[in-house]
Amino acid sequence: MISPEIKEIHQNYPLSLLLEADPDIKKIEKYLNKGRCFAAFIANELVGVYVLKDQKNKTAEIMNIAVSEQHRRQGVGRLLIQDAITRARNDGFETLMIATGKDSFQQRFYESCGFRVFETEKDYFSRAYRCPVTDNGTILTDLSRLSMKL
Ligand SMILES: CC(C)(COP(=O)(O)OP(=O)(O)OC[C@H]1O[C@@H](n2cnc3c(N)ncnc32)[C@H](O)[C@@H]1OP(=O)(O)O)[C@@H](O)C(=O)NCCC(=O)NCCS
Repeated sequence: MISPEIKEIHQNYPLSLLLEADPDIKKIEKYLNKGRCFAAFIANELVGVYVLKDQKNKTAEIMNIAVSEQHRRQGVGRLLIQDAITRARNDGFETLMIATGKDSFQQRFYESCGFRVFETEKDYFSRAYRCPVTDNGTILTDLSRLSMKL
């Protein structure tokens, strides 16, 4: 089992990796500006990233999470989620949120980490993005918002 080092980064954000989770660079720039970016490194190579943002009411949200293609399915994504949970809890947040395509594997992954769907927004992706958003060749339509109590 590989054990990446996860640390906060303040520059040289891995934009091409962040774009794999969210194709809108303007949205990414906005939440990078207001949030905190954490990256996983294996032997000094950046292999994963997530962005945590303070929302209202003692709630933090994972705005973006991505692992480089060649390091996927090796547990890095789960470690990043666990890191976000620990960090948000230690920072005094009471709730952690994340959103993703309804019924996607990502949704099942987040549920396996302890998140539960509390809201679904119909046709979110066609409203929020100018171009169709795809995941593994499937066009995303509805959004699931998930949360967990910390
Ligand atoms: C989602 C993502 C971050 C997961 O990272 P990862 O390092 O591959 O995740 P892990 O190896 O920790 O796997 C976690 C679980 O997710 C599920 N999973 C991961 N990739 C999957 C896939 N392609 N298909 C189905 N299930 C998958 C598995 O259940 C896995 O658990 P298991 O291997 O213990 O059974 C990664 O696939 C990614 O970067 N995707 C592109 C960007 C993206 O979709 N970001 C999220 C947007 S909401």
